[in-house]
Amino acid sequence: MASYNPLVENRQGQSPYGSADPYYHESTGYITPSRPAKRGISKWIKFGLPILILVIAGAVVGGVVGSHHSGSKSSSSSAAGSTPGAAEVSSAVSAKNAVGRFATGTNTEFFMPEYPATTNTAAFTSPTFLPASDVAVAWPKDSFAPSSPSATQVRPDRPRLIAPAYKWAALPTLISSDPYLKGWNDTIFGNATAYFSLPPVVYHMDGASGILDNAREIKQRIKAFAYVYRMTNDTKWVDRTWQEVANAAGNGTTTFGPATDRWNTVHFLDTAEFCAAYAIAYDWLYDMWTDDQRAQMRFTMNLYGLGPGLAVYNGDPNGVGWWSKNINGNWNCVCNSGLTMGALAILGDDTTNNAASLLAVTINDAKQNCAQGPSDDGTWSETANYWYFGTTGHAEMTSSLITATGSDFGLLSANANFNLTGLFHMHVTGTTSLFNYGDHGPNKFSTTANSMIFYASQYNAPQYALFQRDQHDAPEPWSMFWYDPTINGAFWDGMPLDHFFDNQLDQWTAMRSSWTDNNALYVAMKAGQLQNHQTHNDLDCGDFVLDALGTRWAGELGSGDYLSQDYFTSDAQNATRWLYYRKRTEGQNTILVNQQNQNVAALPKVTHGTTGDTQGSSTVMTVSGDSTAYWVADLSSAYFNVTSFSRGVRTINARKQVLIQDDINAQGTIMWRMHTNATVTIDSSGTSATLALDGQTMVVQILNAPSGATFTTGPASRLDGDPALPTGQSDQPNPGVTVLIINLPAGTYSLQVLFNPQWSGMQASDFKTPSSVPLSGWSLTSHN
Ligand SMILES: *[C@@H]1O[C@H](CO)[C@@H](O)[C@H](O)[C@H]1NC(C)=O
Ligand SMILES: *[C@@H]1O[C@H](CO)[C@@H](O)[C@H](O)[C@H]1NC(C)=O
Ligand SMILES: *[C@@H]1O[C@H](CO)[C@@H](O)[C@H](O)[C@H]1NC(C)=O
Ligand SMILES: *[C@@H]1O[C@H](CO)[C@@H](O)[C@H](O)[C@H]1NC(C)=O
Ligand SMILES: *[C@@H]1O[C@H](CO)[C@@H](O)[C@H](O)[C@H]1NC(C)=O
Ligand SMILES: *[C@@H]1O[C@H](CO)[C@@H](O)[C@H](O)[C@H]1NC(C)=O
Ligand SMILES: *[C@@H]1O[C@H](CO)[C@@H](O)[C@H](O)[C@H]1NC(C)=O
Ligand SMILES: *[C@@H]1O[C@H](CO)[C@@H](O)[C@H](O)[C@H]1NC(C)=O
Repeated sequence: MASYNPLVENRQGQSPYGSADPYYHESTGYITPSRPAKRGISKWIKFGLPILILVIAGAVVGGVVGSHHSGSKSSSSSAAGSTPGAAEVSSAVSAKNAVGRFATGTNTEFFMPEYPATTNTAAFTSPTFLPASDVAVAWPKDSFAPSSPSATQVRPDRPRLIAPAYKWAALPTLISSDPYLKGWNDTIFGNATAYFSLPPVVYHMDGASGILDNAREIKQRIKAFAYVYRMTNDTKWVDRTWQEVANAAGNGTTTFGPATDRWNTVHFLDTAEFCAAYAIAYDWLYDMWTDDQRAQMRFTMNLYGLGPGLAVYNGDPNGVGWWSKNINGNWNCVCNSGLTMGALAILGDDTTNNAASLLAVTINDAKQNCAQGPSDDGTWSETANYWYFGTTGHAEMTSSLITATGSDFGLLSANANFNLTGLFHMHVTGTTSLFNYGDHGPNKFSTTANSMIFYASQYNAPQYALFQRDQHDAPEPWSMFWYDPTINGAFWDGMPLDHFFDNQLDQWTAMRSSWTDNNALYVAMKAGQLQNHQTHNDLDCGDFVLDALGTRWAGELGSGDYLSQDYFTSDAQNATRWLYYRKRTEGQNTILVNQQNQNVAALPKVTHGTTGDTQGSSTVMTVSGDSTAYWVADLSSAYFNVTSFSRGVRTINARKQVLIQDDINAQGTIMWRMHTNATVTIDSSGTSATLALDGQTMVVQILNAPSGATFTTGPASRLDGDPALPTGQSDQPNPGVTVLIINLPAGTYSLQVLFNPQWSGMQASDFKTPSSVPLSGWSLTSHN
């Protein structure tokens, strides 16, 4: 049996929902032999004449808007034909309601929102929260506002966590007048109904150590059941909640793990998520439980969760608390959040004193660790996918503290740049899917990007909620309480197309041609350090993804098998992790020198520029001719056998084409690699490759080809001569993936690869062939 490793997280399981599971596309590590058929994406495109649909302002949802504003004031100028002030606000609000929700892609490969090609100057304004007095309905103010909050002085009424009673009372009215709340409420009811008839979650210890999927699935169900109970008063939901509660205590009709350590403290994430699930059941349904049931829940939570949690802080005798010390990753957020929610739920009823003792330590620990998850540019230091786990934990913990005690105790401000993490999430989301470098994590279940909705209000960053509200994972109970219906405008109005994240830990860039066109161009590339990412990184300096025409042309392979030998043990140069293909440099979209992994001590330097374009009000983004961005990384320090090496990426021709250039002087063989799901055809000259995918075409050309530089293809698997894997270990197959390759002997080159997506309506002569400019000479105008 493999030796126990506390860092082992959960295996990527086959989703119980199959390909209908909205989380499926972000979950890798199991094989997807045939990808789900993609629904045709509407053909509104940037380069033809856009069809402008003027949405008529004035249509009203719910009949509450429009008559409510007679006393309100607005200082901005009015739209033509309306009186200033109140009427203008009213028109903005009714325009917003007339627009309703945008469709979320369903049965598509990528589940992205589908924005119509629309110009609507009334609704698509700068993101803002309107004054409550100017809108039909808004959350009432919380009357619980202690002047000197204390973590152990909780509000007198229930629920305490995230959704206080005054919000439940207001919710039906808000639902009736806000299309998002209305749609989400419907979906939650539908989901709860679907879970209702399922048997309680079946205990499944995943190989070495994880029952995290079980814990998160139970939490997801309990949230939905408790929500629907409170919206209907139908006690069948309380009884169904109890089934999950009893089941997770081992008191159901089937066994649930070992009685000694049922919530699996050796993998404390599981323990914490069970605590959070119990906390919601206990608190949201408090009045429905008998004294006996409440005592049973407290007993079970203390025995399997809060007691072991407190032990972590009291010397950690069982050695399960590594996450509590100097870990600024998702583990610290999830573990402290679950313990804190559990403690807040039972505080006052708890006769063990565990709850009060935990609240004296978890908050401070989370401030020092969890809250430091984002770098000073907002990038989550694990990976784009682990951002979900970390911020969900941080937002649940912070929101619970605010509602239960009236204070966040500094969790929102301990890191002065935490508010930038929403920007990280927006830019790391491509036009098809995430720039999903590194490990992707286990199934998400109760984990979502809805922390964006919470942060929008807490940091006055309305664009975060406007962005998230149309995403496929928006509908769930937290959103109902985090969403502020005074929000107005469009996230894309004023949103820069490019961003450079410059912190040395994760230098990376994202560039795009539109925020609202699923067919738009998106290219993202990273450099950064290869260590200090909680061992979730790949050896991937120079790695990139490229989206265009509604599909991903250059993509990632995702996580390896988390149960592989020593997968998480070390990120040192000689670590076993770096033997697995998906983690090796050859498994990334970058340059391989001497067929060797990159140097884990890499310290790249980056330079960049952008014309600074922002999208306007319209969903139809018109890119001007000189609009561009470029980013150049000196990656010499990432390689062992190079004298100098810089990689640059830029858009050209009004963001219709992408150039990736490698100026390299290497002593070892050079191999340019890019992983693609496309079918690749190489022309007779060898310098042009035609990629076909999802009914679209991308032509990739080697410009000014150095002598001998031609495209070849190879499988996405280990190269001959690679060091052997540990005995008995294997790589995951990557079916359907081809590697586009350029091989060159040692030497000095400027290797220029041009990507020409075959946009509809564009002639061959409309593509530009840029002249050769050394990376040191790149500027905003060097390729005009
Ligand atoms: C919430 O959704 C359910 C299911 O669609 C519906 O029956 C209920 O009326 C909705 N609640 C409100 C307040 O509209
Ligand atoms: C919740 O319901 C929506 C709408 O039917 C569905 O798309 C989604 O897959 C469901 N989510 C889960 C986790 O079952
Ligand atoms: C549920 O019961 C509460 C408390 O009696 C009441 O305020 C609420 O209106 C009821 N909700 C429904 C949907 O019947
Ligand atoms: C489960 O059963 C045990 C043993 O009877 C009991 O001590 C505990 O309180 C029960 N917990 C729950 C949540 O039912
Ligand atoms: C983040 O906070 C800083 C300081 O308050 C502020 O200047 C900045 O605009 C905020 N950024 C975002 C995206 O909200
Ligand atoms: C291939 O497609 C799958 C499913 O969309 C995606 O997860 C993966 O990243 C793609 N692989 C590459 C190399 O683009
Ligand atoms: C890596 O090197 C360190 C230090 O020399 C050594 O202790 C460790 O066993 C090596 N690990 C592997 C997997 O070879
Ligand atoms: C490449 O780098 C390795 C590690 O530093 C070194 O052992 C080897 O001699 C180098 N090879 C060449 C061709 O420079």
